[in-house]
Amino acid sequence: MIRLAVRVRRAEAELVLAELLELAPAGLEEVEVDAETVEYAVYGAPGELPQLPDLRAAAGSALVEVATREVGEDWARRWREFHRPLQIAERLTVRPPWEPARDTALDVVIDPGQAFGTGAHPTTRLCLELMLDLGAGAGRSLVDVGCGSGVLAIVAAGLGFAPVVALDYEAAAVRATAENARLNGASVAVRRWDLRADPAPEADVAVANVLAGPLVAWAATPGPLAPTLILSGILSAEADRVTSAFARRGYAETERRELAEWSALALVR
Ligand SMILES: C[S@@+](CC[C@H](N)C(=O)[O-])C[C@H]1O[C@@H](n2cnc3c(N)ncnc32)[C@H](O)[C@@H]1O
Repeated sequence: MIRLAVRVRRAEAELVLAELLELAPAGLEEVEVDAETVEYAVYGAPGELPQLPDLRAAAGSALVEVATREVGEDWARRWREFHRPLQIAERLTVRPPWEPARDTALDVVIDPGQAFGTGAHPTTRLCLELMLDLGAGAGRSLVDVGCGSGVLAIVAAGLGFAPVVALDYEAAAVRATAENARLNGASVAVRRWDLRADPAPEADVAVANVLAGPLVAWAATPGPLAPTLILSGILSAEADRVTSAFARRGYAETERRELAEWSALALVR
């Protein structure tokens, strides 16, 4: 097993992280090296890791160095420590399969495989908080745009939204969502779909944890958009740009939450 680490300048670290997550969607270990430098690391077998030229391109001018090393037995322990459960009050736990269940109203198990979304990332957490604020699903339909591991769709099904449709352009995400939905006994229809090209199915609510760029592109697509939107994956500096793009489609921002440089928005039409 190899640990592949990229060190970048702190000032640009969040922007680089957004790029790195495209290459390592299951997430990256974050290590504070010093006041100036942050390290992001991913673990895997040689053929499974991102390519070095792609990593260098993602880090761009923020790159300090890339380092690889063989890791021994502590790999499994580190991987497990890295995937911590997420708990939101008494309402929701999202946990990897090896963590015991907690006493919350909803308990969702997500196997951290090849797709993004174990619940621990700030963008997923913010999205989940805004979803919980929508109250019981009460049979309202929901579409999860860019479903990754399926965490948002599975939580939505648990909250009583129905039908729930999960969409992603990555085959690995579609497979992971179908498997995680099965593990949780959640009723979720999963389809391969590209936000830039395919109209989204109509729904009462859409949740989308993708980056600002794809969200702005989505706002400009001709298809119907749900009357209630929860948008995440937005660097705080780009949140106004996203709000403006959706204002042109008749949406008003009703809430904005921020966590560690990231913002999530609730919009209604
Ligand atoms: C940041 S992850 C979010 C995963 C999960 N929904 C969560 O909240 O943890 C973004 C997901 O959007 C998908 N995605 C990005 N661009 C897309 C596009 N143009 N069409 C469909 N899916 C896209 C990626 O494959 C990835 O699974």
